[in-house]
Amino acid sequence: MKVFQCIFVLGLQLLAFVSAISSEAIITQDIPFDLNGFNYTYQWPVNIYQFSSQNNQTLQMAFMDIKPTCAPNGKTAVFIHGKNFCSQTWNATAIAMAEAGYRVILVDQVGFCKSSKPQSYQFTFQGLSKNLLGLLTTIGVNDITLVGHSFGGNTAARFALLYPWMVKELVLSDALGLENYIGEGVPYPDTDYVLATERQNTYTAIRGYEQSNYYPNMTWQPEYDVWVNMLVDIYGGSQAKEYTWCQALITDTVLTGPVVYELPNLKMPTLVLIGENDPVAIGKAWAPVAVQAKLGKWSVFAPEAAASIPNSTFISFPGQGHAPQISDTLAYNAALLGWLDTH
Ligand SMILES: *[C@@H]1O[C@H](CO)[C@@H](O)[C@H](O)[C@H]1NC(C)=O
Ligand SMILES: *[C@@H]1O[C@H](CO)[C@@H](O)[C@H](O)[C@H]1NC(C)=O
Ligand SMILES: *[C@@H]1O[C@H](CO)[C@@H](O)[C@H](O)[C@H]1NC(C)=O
Ligand SMILES: *[C@@H]1O[C@H](CO)[C@@H](O)[C@H](O)[C@H]1NC(C)=O
Ligand SMILES: *[C@@H]1O[C@H](CO)[C@@H](O)[C@H](O)[C@H]1NC(C)=O
Repeated sequence: MKVFQCIFVLGLQLLAFVSAISSEAIITQDIPFDLNGFNYTYQWPVNIYQFSSQNNQTLQMAFMDIKPTCAPNGKTAVFIHGKNFCSQTWNATAIAMAEAGYRVILVDQVGFCKSSKPQSYQFTFQGLSKNLLGLLTTIGVNDITLVGHSFGGNTAARFALLYPWMVKELVLSDALGLENYIGEGVPYPDTDYVLATERQNTYTAIRGYEQSNYYPNMTWQPEYDVWVNMLVDIYGGSQAKEYTWCQALITDTVLTGPVVYELPNLKMPTLVLIGENDPVAIGKAWAPVAVQAKLGKWSVFAPEAAASIPNSTFISFPGQGHAPQISDTLAYNAALLGWLDTH
């Protein structure tokens, strides 16, 4: 209970407001439990950034804004989740960051989790970055420590390229975009092909994918079920149809949005983290065998990608898969906080 003493010192309480001239708003009150088709319980209060985007659609981005639990260090860390993840999935790392003095902002990207599921939307990493910039600008946050995982790592890299003045430090965690799948020979699929696979997502299918990609060579632990069931809720939720279509579009975003060839332009200190045995490669499932054999070699392409970033550090977690923040949380948090302290 020691933690609560520090909370009021910082007084970062957001006020709900609606501007008369702009459609932008931060909503902190009366947030529905089932928000944009997702009824999962998040660990901290959910806020909404409401804004207008792409032909006047009113969209919502859900986010959690966590105060430092002791000794504020004045820094703000923003975390972006990957595909098959949500802001809540960062919880164990968020707790460690808040204890280290960070204000922590966990966002749900548009198309995911508790955020809007627009059916007519051009999902690009640039557009998603612009949405995040709008959120951060509206709540008055800058000079951030930006952490992105997987699909969110691709967003984070793009955000840092577009808005370098916003990003003090960048952390790319098993980030997509470091490998150019179509360039390696993955056939480009129609989104309807991907949609058909999205529709097949059941507990068994999701668990099978997570076992081989997030926990390769590891025995399934009961606590891994939490994240499978989180996805089962959303794939079976009140906007299941809208969600699967967004996710199909988002696979297209990955295939068309690699960032590897622009990494030399990243000027801020950057940490590249991977699980040594991460096998993830988008499109591997439908690629010819000869192409499959080349894909997903994170231990090869990730250090090369890191080396192309002028001010970078590379850390590989031995034996881990695509989500070391979940499968080896203590080591992950120690590596992240250690680098933030000393780089
Ligand atoms: C968006 O809607 C507002 C209010 O209806 C209207 O004034 C504005 O012209 C619209 N903008 C676009 C780009 O359609
Ligand atoms: C993180 O969230 C999951 C699911 O919401 C929960 O099961 C787990 O206990 C949480 N972990 C921590 C460290 O709070
Ligand atoms: C959330 O929605 C899912 C899918 O409709 C349902 O199975 C689950 O019981 C709901 N959970 C809660 C806590 O309402
Ligand atoms: C990397 O960035 C840090 C922090 O800005 C700076 O102190 C250091 O000199 C930079 N290193 C290189 C090689 O640019
Ligand atoms: C399983 O472990 C072996 C030996 O450490 C390794 O070669 C292999 O890549 C691992 N499998 C996956 C899917 O990472």
